[in-house]
Amino acid sequence: MFKLAHISDVHLGPLPDLTFRELASKRITGFVNWHRNRIRHLFPGTLDCLMKDIEKRKPDHLAITGDLVNLASSLEIEAVTAWLMAAGDPKDISIVPGNHDAYVPGAYEKTSRAWYPFMRGDDSPAGWLKDHGCFPYMRVRGPVALIGCSTAVATPPFAASGYFGPRQARATVNLLRAAGEAGLFRIVMIHHPPIRGATSMHKRMIGIRRFAATVSSGGAELVLHGHTHLNTVYWLKGHAGPVPVVGIASASQGPGGSKPVAAYNLFSVDGGPGDWRLTRERFALTADATDVTLAETTHF
Ligand SMILES: [Fe+2]
Ligand SMILES: [Fe+2]
Repeated sequence: MFKLAHISDVHLGPLPDLTFRELASKRITGFVNWHRNRIRHLFPGTLDCLMKDIEKRKPDHLAITGDLVNLASSLEIEAVTAWLMAAGDPKDISIVPGNHDAYVPGAYEKTSRAWYPFMRGDDSPAGWLKDHGCFPYMRVRGPVALIGCSTAVATPPFAASGYFGPRQARATVNLLRAAGEAGLFRIVMIHHPPIRGATSMHKRMIGIRRFAATVSSGGAELVLHGHTHLNTVYWLKGHAGPVPVVGIASASQGPGGSKPVAAYNLFSVDGGPGDWRLTRERFALTADATDVTLAETTHF
């Protein structure tokens, strides 16, 4: 059995209220510690609480479906890099970027360079290359093929839309077909929900129909997304039956907000080609925000 944990929309901490000069005079490690303490204060350890629980259940892999930062400043990106390195080995954690990770022009290049070890496909170059598009990438882990797509583009203020274009669609179909022929359980990761009506117009993904065609012609067993900060299950048409499309609450959401509290999905993949068995357990923060508890179990 292969166990995959799924979190999303980490939005690691708010921007510190310090001038650039003050920050530049500090070593990054000191900054990260300070930053984490601030997070504890503001989000009473929500993300730490979730991560500890995930660690306890010993998943084989962790998928993070985007929005790791807020404004994609260099300091936030460095803080996330340090947080990721502390979370585990890059070969065991796979990331796709969200709209916040490409918040301003130039940010996308910075985040994809900094987090490349977590977005490097099995056949990708060993180091980040400026003109080598990272996406889609494929990583094979046990019986599972993790396929990472990107919808991240810099958008005008107050817009949070994403884009899934034809080049990426063609490459994704090829990866899905190859993984299917190899008898792997195919999991596609994408930040924006590839479902019409799942989010408002200014937050939607451009290319929803293209993504649906990609899944139906390439084949997939599961699609994971973030962006909405909601715990949802939608379905897309696949050529061997409906494909579940699963979203999850923000990993940093404390109680009392308008969105559901922080949660993570723990998927168990069992069986083999033609007879896959997929179970999803959703663990959510308790009302007092001190622990995490099983909220729902779904057998797909
Ligand atoms: Fe988000
Ligand atoms: Fe988002």
